[in-house]
Amino acid sequence: MELQTIEDKDYKGKRVFLRVDFNVPIENGVITDDTRITAALPTINYLLDKGASLVIASHLGRPKGKTVPEMSLKPVRERLATLLGKDVIFSEDCIGPDAEKKASGLKAGQILMLENLRFHKEEEDGDKDFAKKLSGLADSYVNDAFGTCHRKHASIYQIIEHMDSAACGYLIQREIKALSMLLDNPRKPFLLILGGAKVLDKIGMITNLLDKVDTIITGGVMAYTFIKAKNWETGDCKVEPEAVPAAKEIIKAINKKHMEFHTPLDHIIADRISPDAHFFATDRGTVPNNWIGVDIGPQAIEEYIDCINRAKTIFWNSPMGIFEIEPFSRGTMEVARAIAAADVFSVIGGGDSVAAVKKAGVEDKVSHICTGGGASLEFLEKGTLPGIEVLKK
Ligand code: 3PG
Repeated sequence: MELQTIEDKDYKGKRVFLRVDFNVPIENGVITDDTRITAALPTINYLLDKGASLVIASHLGRPKGKTVPEMSLKPVRERLATLLGKDVIFSEDCIGPDAEKKASGLKAGQILMLENLRFHKEEEDGDKDFAKKLSGLADSYVNDAFGTCHRKHASIYQIIEHMDSAACGYLIQREIKALSMLLDNPRKPFLLILGGAKVLDKIGMITNLLDKVDTIITGGVMAYTFIKAKNWETGDCKVEPEAVPAAKEIIKAINKKHMEFHTPLDHIIADRISPDAHFFATDRGTVPNNWIGVDIGPQAIEEYIDCINRAKTIFWNSPMGIFEIEPFSRGTMEVARAIAAADVFSVIGGGDSVAAVKKAGVEDKVSHICTGGGASLEFLEKGTLPGIEVLKK
């Protein structure tokens, strides 16, 4: 994929509109995970080193076109200033006189951060006039917001036609390289680990990867939905009934290919979802009435570790159980540790599996952690994203 990159352009004395995805978790005004901010630092530092000034823009949360103080980017501005060790000017609105004045006053090496783009409904609508107003704040455009490239939003998509120069930063390049290795040339055997909920959202990705993967292992709501599709008992487990027909089709396709497909051999079942629940390991792949599956069981862990050890490429999306609750976390933690210990090219995508890898303390031992959940799934389904298409040479 031939993209315009920041290395292709000259930024000396230029004011750059840098779209990032600083949609980070914030609790009571405190950022609880700044991965998305640190991931953009190489691009920010490169542009500053080349003599640019920066107008940094992002969304945060889903304020739906309203000004929601809890979704202000002010805490992000402070964290960015700390990480860079330099002042970051702030504009209370992403368009209008204050933003224009502060942007036009920027000198080389200075940074302006704009308030949440989504405080304006026009951002998500992909409004052309809004895109034009944003473009007027700078001379050049750089996109490093991989996590938002699946959205045809004004600052990602429509803005391009108003800019003389547009390119992608290092984060987008890293993400595309890692995800393309899964799509184009995976070392075999290729293992797909599927967990978590939102099964319907993942069907396109699974279907597209079926021709490339050798083995699939499942946990969480994903597994229970496939177990339901096999017409087996799922007790009181959460399943996604609307995804069951698609799961049946996937099982049919898998059977034709004679590839390995696993739902858990056994489960940890609980009488409720609580740290003080009554729970135990079943010795079978089904879940009896009045019980809830909360993790994969010990036999499944053993089998899944064996699959991981045999793999040369792994994509892991979402946890094996409710790992946030300690007694139900073993399956997810063992899978994370096994991936970290294996001699394998491993890509972790989807917010919850990233959190699981961090909880297991092995984030430095996996090959690539995606900064975009929805964006990585859509890239693996379609091989590209709207925000990437517009940056092609
Ligand atoms: C994400 O967190 O996946 C991105 O920031 C995109 O956010 P969105 O799903 O609200 O568009």
